[in-house]
Amino acid sequence: MWKTLRSVLRFRRFEFDPVLRRLGRCANVEDLRALAKRQVPRGVFDYIDGAAEDEKTQQRNCDAFHRLEFKPRVLRDVSKVRLDSKLLGKTLPMPLVLAPTGFSRASNSQGELAVARAAQRAGLPYSLSTLSTRSIEDVARVSSGPKWFQVYAWKDKGLVKELLERAMAANYEAILITVDTSVLGRRERDVRSGFTLPPKVGLSTLLDGILHPQWTMDFLRAEPISFANVAGRGVGDGSDAISLADYINSQFDSGLNWETVDWMRSIWKGPVVLKGIQTVEDAEIAAREGIDAVALSNHGGRQLDGAPPPLELVGPVADKVGGRIEILCDGGVRRGSDIVKAVALGATACMTGRAYLYGLAAGGEAGVDLVLEWFEESMRRTLSLVGCSSFEQCNSSIVRWRTG
Ligand code: GLV
Repeated sequence: MWKTLRSVLRFRRFEFDPVLRRLGRCANVEDLRALAKRQVPRGVFDYIDGAAEDEKTQQRNCDAFHRLEFKPRVLRDVSKVRLDSKLLGKTLPMPLVLAPTGFSRASNSQGELAVARAAQRAGLPYSLSTLSTRSIEDVARVSSGPKWFQVYAWKDKGLVKELLERAMAANYEAILITVDTSVLGRRERDVRSGFTLPPKVGLSTLLDGILHPQWTMDFLRAEPISFANVAGRGVGDGSDAISLADYINSQFDSGLNWETVDWMRSIWKGPVVLKGIQTVEDAEIAAREGIDAVALSNHGGRQLDGAPPPLELVGPVADKVGGRIEILCDGGVRRGSDIVKAVALGATACMTGRAYLYGLAAGGEAGVDLVLEWFEESMRRTLSLVGCSSFEQCNSSIVRWRTG
């Protein structure tokens, strides 16, 4: 009996670091989401996890990936699988870009610095949000990897010009102009929780803080949070608690149009991506205007509830303008296999925001590293299992929409 018992007993090496121990028990992004929910105060989790109104679009973004299934080919030599792919004239180790996300320091005090460092290690472009809590220059100081800058249309045009010039001076490679935020979508979880940027400490948040001591200590030890890019610029810099809706609706220009895009292009000398394109018609205008790439996106379901899932748009957009403009796709990307599906339909690459934010909230920089590792492994495994040895072989013949 003792001999048998000895032959089956196996103990994992004990991990002394509590963060790595918790991460070690996670197997996918959904596990990290569950861990993040336990780690950070409710209001912060809901800000990351939540979406507009009934959150149907957010749900459908994810569901769309499940409605698309593979048609795996077998007996093809997949002993060597390559993931490299081209985007905006550069070769990437895999077709993935880290999407811009506002206010990353609400998840972890390192915020954007942690994400930019993890992206650099993976060799992937990191997109810094205008509404970041670390500045353009601070992020450039910690990462010499590829960086993109996301820009909103502030009412203060001088500020937009200055931000673009700063991003250029700090060697950001491309800009993403967000075009789906003429006003902020109604994120009802934030309405209910009264979530503000920075998070306000009231009676309920105090209790929440006590229940999440690690997050609270991390938050209190770090310097105060603000919108680092606009600190001292005379517009609200987020140092006074304000709801995102009030902030955006007071600071951003809802008159944004194709002429504004032209004006930004007259300042920015590198590639331009329009983020938030949601119809074939607008993708056609973008291609006609000579825009470098469209990011098919509904802002992770955070803007217009009822907007179509980007994955469903990839095929129709690729059919119309595929050879003329590059196509990014975000919304619901949780696995490397999702990226394989989007590329098969005609996307050049995918972006993901929430997936890495769950990692950041769950385990800081190590959590982001883990997400990027999983994406890489999953892409490699999926390509093998569908019989492709590179993304060049990945086309619509390997997928089909489920009808039932
Ligand atoms: C910011 O862009 C957000 O979606 O919260």
